[in-house]
Amino acid sequence: MVKHYKLGNPFETESVVVDVPFENEALSETFGKFQAGENGFLWSYKLSRNDRIFGLGESLHGMNKRGHVYESFCADEPNHTEDKVSLYGAHNFILIVPEKFQPFGVYFDYPGRIRFDIGFTKRDELTVTAEKADMHVYFITAENGSENSEKPHLAICRLFRELTGASYIPPEWAFGYMQSRWGYRTADDIRQVVARYRGKNIPLEAVFMDIDYMTEYKDFTVDPNKYPDFKNFVAEMKDMGIHLVPIIDAGVKIQSGYDVYEEGLKKGYFSADRKLDLSYPFTAAVWPGLCHFPDFFNPEARKWFGDKYKVLLDAGIDGFWNDMNEPALFYSREGLEQALLKIESYKNKNMGIGEYFSFRDSTNLSNKIEDYKNIFHQVDEKTAGNFAVSKPDHDGKVFVNHYDVHNYFGTNMTRSAAESIRQLEPNKDILLFSRASSIGAHRYGGIWTGDNESIWSHLKLNLAQMAGLNMCGFLYSGADTGGFGFNTSRELMMRWIQLSLFTPLFRNHACDGTRNQELYLFEDSKEFQAVIETRYRLLPYIKAQFMKAATENGMYFKPIGFEFTDDERAWDIEDQILCGESMMLAPVLEPNARGRYVYLPEDMTMVSFGGDEKAGVSTDKAFELKKLPKGDHWIEVPAEKGVFFIRNGREVEVAELPESGVVNTQSVLNGTLPRTLRAL
Ligand code: GLC
Repeated sequence: MVKHYKLGNPFETESVVVDVPFENEALSETFGKFQAGENGFLWSYKLSRNDRIFGLGESLHGMNKRGHVYESFCADEPNHTEDKVSLYGAHNFILIVPEKFQPFGVYFDYPGRIRFDIGFTKRDELTVTAEKADMHVYFITAENGSENSEKPHLAICRLFRELTGASYIPPEWAFGYMQSRWGYRTADDIRQVVARYRGKNIPLEAVFMDIDYMTEYKDFTVDPNKYPDFKNFVAEMKDMGIHLVPIIDAGVKIQSGYDVYEEGLKKGYFSADRKLDLSYPFTAAVWPGLCHFPDFFNPEARKWFGDKYKVLLDAGIDGFWNDMNEPALFYSREGLEQALLKIESYKNKNMGIGEYFSFRDSTNLSNKIEDYKNIFHQVDEKTAGNFAVSKPDHDGKVFVNHYDVHNYFGTNMTRSAAESIRQLEPNKDILLFSRASSIGAHRYGGIWTGDNESIWSHLKLNLAQMAGLNMCGFLYSGADTGGFGFNTSRELMMRWIQLSLFTPLFRNHACDGTRNQELYLFEDSKEFQAVIETRYRLLPYIKAQFMKAATENGMYFKPIGFEFTDDERAWDIEDQILCGESMMLAPVLEPNARGRYVYLPEDMTMVSFGGDEKAGVSTDKAFELKKLPKGDHWIEVPAEKGVFFIRNGREVEVAELPESGVVNTQSVLNGTLPRTLRAL
C-alpha cells in the first residue's frame, strides 16, 4: 500500500508517474515523528538494535546503510572515501527492515539537498532533514503474503518502482563488453584498440569516445583533424562489430561562431545567473573553458539540446554517455574574481593560522555551493510550487534557484537526450547513460557509478552499490571496471572483471595519465579472454533476468536477505549478492587471495570458470560444477578463476560461442539455442 503525503507546496520533480491521491491528515506518526515548518523538514524514526536500512541508490558504504550519514546532493566527487556523504546520484528511497515489525519503504520526493543520518549521530535514531518543508513523502508497505506470496521487501521495492516508472532498457549490444579510456584521441587510437582486442581473441563490442574527439571540447562537434571522415569511420567500426559511444558534457563553450552557443543565447535557453535575465546566463568553466549551461528544467531548452544529438545519430552513432551533469563546475567567473582579490589581499601578509587556512581554501573553486546558488532555472508556476523566487512572467514562468532543485539538473539532461532520441530514432534502441541522476532518471537511461579508483575497496563498493541502485530502478548500471583513477594491477583488473561480467553495464574505463588497462596488455591474456567469454556464455541468462526485472519492476541484483528473509545471517552479508532468480555471487574482493569464505543460505551448486585452459573451449568444458551444502565454506578461487553459485533446484541458461567469426551479443544470442546449467 502506498500512502502519499503532500507537505506545503512542493516542487514537482516528475519522478512519480502515477497519480496517488494524497492523505488529508497530517503525516502519519505510525512511521516515526515528523516536523515541518519554517526550519525545514525533519523526520525521525527510532531504531531498534537490529533494524536494518537499505536503499539510497548510488551511495557509499555497504548494502545496509546503518551507521553513517548520507546527503542527496549530486556531487562531482572523484574521491569516494568513507568520510564523503554524497556521490553523483541522489536517490531518496529507503527501505526499513525493523527487527520486530513489518518492513516499510519511504520515498522523499524532493529536488534539493536532503540528509539521512542513519544511526550516526545517535545510534538508535534515523533522521531525515531538508531545508524546505515542501515535499511529497510516500510511505510504502506490503503485508506478508498479501501480494501472491511475494516477500514484503520485494513487494515494497516493486511498489516503489511502479510509482516511479519502468526502467530503461538498452540495446542488446550494450550487454556486451565495452572498452573506454580518457586518452584515446584519434580514429587511429581506436582502430588500434580494436585490432589488439581482436588479435588476442578477447570479445569487444563498443569503444567509448571521451572528450578528446571534440573540437575544443565543444558538444556535438567532431575534430576533423583527429577523425578526418567520421561517418565512414563509424561505418568501418560497425562493419567490425564495434559501436562507438561519444561523451556529451553539460557545459556549452562560450565561443562566437559556435552554433550551439549562439542559438542557446539567442533563444534564452541557458540557465540564468542572479540577474534573472536570460541574456546574461550563468558562466563557469569546465573542460572547454568558460561555458553556459542549458536550462534542462525548461522543456523548450530540453528539446532544443536533445535535438542536437541528431548530428551524431546521423553519422551512425547509436550510443551516448552524458557527463559532468551534476553540473560539475571548475570555477565560476565570479568565484575566480573574488578568489584573485582575496589572494592579492594576502600579499606581504604574515598569515596567522586562521588566515592561512582561509587563504588555502580560497584556491578551491570547484563545485561551490555559492556558485550553485547563483544559477537559476525557468519552470512554470505550478511546477515551482513554493520554490519560485520570482513573480510569474506573461507566460506563467517563474525562476527557481538551482541549489534548491540541484538533484534534477542531471536527470533532466538525460531526459533531454532520451526524449529527443526517441523521436529522432523511433525504431532503434540507443544506448544512453549518465553520471548524475536522481529518482526518475532510470526511465531515461542507465548510470555508471562515476570516477572510482583502482583500489580494492572500490571493487567492494561496486558490489554494494548494485543493491541500492537496483532498488531505485537503475538496472542498467555498472562501475568503471578496473578503476578510473590510479594505476590498476593485473590482479585487481582480473578480480574486477570477474564481478563486472555480471553487471548489465560492463565497461572498462580509466583516467588519462593512469596505467593503460586494456585487457590485451596484461600477461597471459588468455585468462582475460576466458572471463570475457564467460560473460558472453551467460548472456542468455543475464539478458533474460535483466528483462524480467525491467518489465516486472523487480531487482536484477538483491541483497541475500531479501530472499532468505528468515535467515538472520543472510541479512548481514555484505560481500555476496543475488543476481537474477537463480544465481548468487560471491566474488573475491581481496588481494593475494587464493579463495574466500562463503555463506550458503541453502544448498547450492558452485560453478567455477576462467583460467587460460578455459579460453576458446566449448561451453561444456568452460564451467565446473560442484554441489555444496547449506552453511559456511572456504572455497578455493585462484586469481584467474571466478565463481558463481546456482541456487538449489534452479538453472542458468548458457550459450555456446560461435565456432568461427566474431563473438558478440548478436552472434551469441542468435546462435544455437541456449542450454541450461542445472543445480546439482
Ligand atoms: C569525468 C568523467 C570521466 C571522464 C572524464 C573526462 O571525470 O567522470 O569518466 O573520463 O570526465 O571526460
